[in-house]
Amino acid sequence: MMSVKHLLEKDETKGVKGDNIPLKQPVISFKKDDDYETPKYIWEMICNEKFISKNKKLYDPFYCRGNTASVMKELGYECIHPDEDFFTNHHRYEYDILLSNIPFSIKKKVYEELKKIDKPFIVISPISTITKKYFMDNFKNDDITIIIPPKRMQFMKNGKQLKECWFDTVFICYKMDLNERIIYI
Ligand SMILES: C[S@@+](CC[C@H](N)C(=O)[O-])C[C@H]1O[C@@H](n2cnc3c(N)ncnc32)[C@H](O)[C@@H]1O
Repeated sequence: MMSVKHLLEKDETKGVKGDNIPLKQPVISFKKDDDYETPKYIWEMICNEKFISKNKKLYDPFYCRGNTASVMKELGYECIHPDEDFFTNHHRYEYDILLSNIPFSIKKKVYEELKKIDKPFIVISPISTITKKYFMDNFKNDDITIIIPPKRMQFMKNGKQLKECWFDTVFICYKMDLNERIIYI
């Protein structure tokens, strides 16, 4: 994959420091790619009796390759996991906790919808989410718990475990009655 450094070097062709021609800002565009799967080891950290009792019905509305339902079954949970648009279909399901690794490229829209739904959730999200205006506007005064994993989470793509996630992600929990604002696993 082309690195940001490489893109900068490639596009930064107009003008050099010292002459009077302003340096052209490089145009960098990133392809939206949300198709990362959550490996079982990540779900094991949260899907246990310490955080979620086994009688809770889960709902992962973000499908990708559809792994979550089978992983949840292995961990002893029932999980609704349909392959369809979340925003137009979530009202069709009865569940106790929405549990998902959400598409990060539309997380503002997802969190705004989660606030409207107003049901308990546990969502994997970049740690930087909690300082975003949209997040604070919606959840600052609510029952939010941040659960921090012992090391940086690494995700899967097309069934293959990756190692190069360069940012930290956490579990953001809403109305889970965990009685603490931050929990380190
Ligand atoms: C980060 S993946 C996680 C998949 C799965 N929840 C997991 O934990 O393995 C998020 C997925 O949501 C999908 N997605 C994006 N927008 C969506 C929408 N409006 N409704 C349903 N899925 C969507 C993306 O295509 C992507 O495959």
